[in-house]
Amino acid sequence: MDGNGRWAQQRGLPRPAGHRAGGEAVRRVVEAAVAAPVTVLTLYAFSCDNWGRPKREVSALMRLMQRYLVSERLRCLKNGVRINVIGRRDRISRDLVEEIEDIEHATAACDRLLLRLAVDYSSRQAMLDAAKLPGEPDGLCDFERRLERATHSVPGVPSLDLLIRTGGERRLSDFLLWESAYAELVFCDTYWPDFGEQALLAALDEFRRRDRRFGQLSRRTA
Ligand code: IPE
Ligand code: MG
Repeated sequence: MDGNGRWAQQRGLPRPAGHRAGGEAVRRVVEAAVAAPVTVLTLYAFSCDNWGRPKREVSALMRLMQRYLVSERLRCLKNGVRINVIGRRDRISRDLVEEIEDIEHATAACDRLLLRLAVDYSSRQAMLDAAKLPGEPDGLCDFERRLERATHSVPGVPSLDLLIRTGGERRLSDFLLWESAYAELVFCDTYWPDFGEQALLAALDEFRRRDRRFGQLSRRTA
């Protein structure tokens, strides 16, 4: 979800205003994902490297996430959205951890959309942590389960099919690197606060047009 700051700057607004508008985009995109239907959506909300931003911006983002978890609770229950926050939980505030545990528990039975929010998340950190957990040394599936345990993810989440990056940059920035091994990448120039149902459906259309071969031969040419 990239481009909040530039969206605000374009309008002469402070960066937190861009993050607030980004929060509204999350609400719209989650509704569009439920309708699409998409069954798993992971949103990159705050990376481990985002701690390096000015303190005021970090606090604004933390407050926004906490408020989102409180304000979206009923909507999630109504729309069948299960919330799961992936990433580290040892550096965010105790209040936020409690809010996370609370909403994960409250929405655990929701089964239309699994909405994973990546908070204090780094894919490389997750892989390092997973490698330290006990398990079969060379079992790929086993490693994926360890990766889920290391990031507090619910178990059994399939690998990524589609990765969308907004805001015009063409990079992955330490997001779900392992899980994206065969993901289709869609880069769009829209700033995240302007991303909505139409943009999501356009990305899904683009995805459907891709010829996914997983290192094998095309079904069209085989
Ligand atoms: C993404 O928007 C939001 C987070 C990283 C939390 P940015 O804040 O990165 O927006 P730009 O890149 O400055 O426009
Ligand atoms: Mg950015």
